[in-house]
Amino acid sequence: MGARAERELELKLRNTRAALINMLRDAEEDRRQLKEKAEELENKTRKLSQTRSAILNMLKDMAENKKKTENAYQELKRTQSQLIQSEKMATIGILAGGVAHEINNPLGGILIHTQMLLRKTRDRDERRSLKLIEESTRRCRDIVRSLLDYSRKPGLNDFRSLNLNKVISDACDMIHYEMEDRNIKIEAEYGSIPDIKGNSNELQQVFTNLILNAEDAIDETGKPGKIIIRTYQEDRYIISQVIDNSSGIPEENLKKIFDPFFTTKDVGKGTGLGLSIAYRIVEKHGGEINVASKLGEGTTFTIKLPVGENEGKDFGRG
Ligand SMILES: Nc1ncnc2c1ncn2[C@@H]1O[C@H](COP(=O)(O)OP(=O)(O)OP(=O)(O)O)[C@@H](O)[C@H]1O
Ligand SMILES: [Mg+2]
Repeated sequence: MGARAERELELKLRNTRAALINMLRDAEEDRRQLKEKAEELENKTRKLSQTRSAILNMLKDMAENKKKTENAYQELKRTQSQLIQSEKMATIGILAGGVAHEINNPLGGILIHTQMLLRKTRDRDERRSLKLIEESTRRCRDIVRSLLDYSRKPGLNDFRSLNLNKVISDACDMIHYEMEDRNIKIEAEYGSIPDIKGNSNELQQVFTNLILNAEDAIDETGKPGKIIIRTYQEDRYIISQVIDNSSGIPEENLKKIFDPFFTTKDVGKGTGLGLSIAYRIVEKHGGEINVASKLGEGTTFTIKLPVGENEGKDFGRG
């Protein structure tokens, strides 16, 4: 190779080397930029995922708050309807008490005079009519008596220490022969519960009515049934439940069952006073009575009574 050709080759090589170096530099720059972009992207992704979890937390908080608000609203609604109910019952109590008081004396008169006539007359038709009058008057008198009980200003000095299990078992003893004719089983699940302060006669009346109601409801189904009675302690409360497996209470009646005179029973069978009296008695004991029912499945009445110093409450006529 000539000297000239050698020089040309060297020049070409040098140029190629320079071009290669430039290319490498460019590639290095591209790599650096790419790395920067990748880091930037990574940062953005990190920030995005942080924002995402912050939003998720916010959504969770919002859902919780919504639930809390809903619960508070439900609680408020329940308290309001209880207030309305107790207000309504106090008013009806005053009214019914006044009327009952007025009716009580004439009824006594009718009864005494009917009985006097009964002693005198031998005529069969007359005696049958008089017996009918006597029976109807007695029934009226019983209703008036329960009305007077209902409107009576609760006396608080008759509160004594008592055990609810004993009260309930006394109530069951009182009505157990009623149930033997009917095909109804009572299952009592008594929990170990502390004594409370209260009026055992009145509380017994509450459970008697709840059990008799459950029996009537089971009877209506025409099938054998079961009543479960349960007591247990929950925090500072004694919970007692009367549960039946009858056909339940329709939604539209649930709001009315504690109203005085609301009854679905035949004339002469129910006066519709049982639950309103029960409501009042439980309220007087500083407790609550609630009902839950499912059509075709049955009904649960739940009574919540406070444990400990139960001073009771003063309701009704001032
Ligand atoms: N366990 C129950 N199952 C189905 N319905 C019930 C139950 N308890 C109460 N009820 C309904 O509530 C109504 C009112 O009950 P409440 O005890 O106040 O009156 P009553 O039983 O009809 O009459 P009273 O108790 O004065 O003899 C009943 O007529 C019945 O329709
Ligand atoms: Mg009843």
